[in-house]
Amino acid sequence: MEKSKIVLITGCSSGIGKELLSIFNRSPYKVVGTTLPESFETLSKDPMASSDRIWIRRLNVVDYEKASRIVRETEEKWGAIDILINNAGISYRSVVEDMGVEDEQTQIQVNYLGPMHLIRECIPSMRERRSGRIINISSVGGMMAMPTMASYSASKFALEGASESLWYELKPWNIHVTLVRPGFINSLAFRKVFYSKKRQESQGASPYDPHYENMTQFVEKLMRKSPCTSESVARVIFKVAQARKPRLRVPGTIDARVFYFIRRLLPRLLYHKLLYHFLPGIRQWGK
Ligand SMILES: NC(=O)c1ccc[n+]([C@@H]2O[C@H](COP(=O)([O-])OP(=O)(O)OC[C@H]3O[C@@H](n4cnc5c(N)ncnc54)[C@H](OP(=O)(O)O)[C@@H]3O)[C@@H](O)[C@H]2O)c1
Repeated sequence: MEKSKIVLITGCSSGIGKELLSIFNRSPYKVVGTTLPESFETLSKDPMASSDRIWIRRLNVVDYEKASRIVRETEEKWGAIDILINNAGISYRSVVEDMGVEDEQTQIQVNYLGPMHLIRECIPSMRERRSGRIINISSVGGMMAMPTMASYSASKFALEGASESLWYELKPWNIHVTLVRPGFINSLAFRKVFYSKKRQESQGASPYDPHYENMTQFVEKLMRKSPCTSESVARVIFKVAQARKPRLRVPGTIDARVFYFIRRLLPRLLYHKLLYHFLPGIRQWGK
């Protein structure tokens, strides 16, 4: 009988990660699902967690030592990791001027440095076995940047750049690297956005208030109206995990596909002018 493949998924307490856990649980995989320590109790009570093919571990992805330990312990318990899915992520809603150094570090550490560390931990055994998959959850924000999302986009652009390099580096060992790019998802993730210290202190008295108000309403409306859900994105990721030759970039939602073509086909100057023109409430910005 063929050995069950071993999958490591980060950020499994909610959204896409939780749906992934559920989909993989219905298939012959062994899954290490990690969650922030504060969400561990809740996720452990989920019926999925009692499956002997699911192992829930506490992990803040910026705790690099713990991340290494989880990879080693998985190897001892079940064997080497076949598929790494870097899903955990956070999103700051902040204009550049309001971000502090610590805010920038938090954004980049969770969305870029943490995933890169896990990748480095998984590569050696994948290389030795000449087989493996690395799936990084990027975003439409990783191909186009919008106001109040500079740091989030920077983190996803970084993930995109590194994944593109990795794709070339690891292909000779039959290790597939894929970026799945969701766009707007009908989920509650917008409630979890982070605000910088400066933004929290300046509530209601910042020259950027129209930027925040208009962008927040705009993003929340698009998310509520999106036909795509965390589950539909998880299904796309699952397909990538099973594909014989997955592509480097895969749209996670329909709008991601549309944005990709807009970005590719429109000349840059026209693209920026059009996007600026259509920003919500743009006439009030800067007043
Ligand atoms: N939702 C969207 O519209 C959207 C669009 C494009 C891309 N994405 C990307 O999709 C991925 C999943 O997002 P989602 O929509 O499923 O959001 P979500 O529901 O907020 O899930 C994010 C997961 O990451 C975990 N997490 C946050 N910080 C972490 C840390 N430092 N270490 C470990 N785990 C951490 C969260 O744990 P807690 O629940 O305990 O906080 C949660 O389980 C992210 O990479 C996100 O950037 C989402």
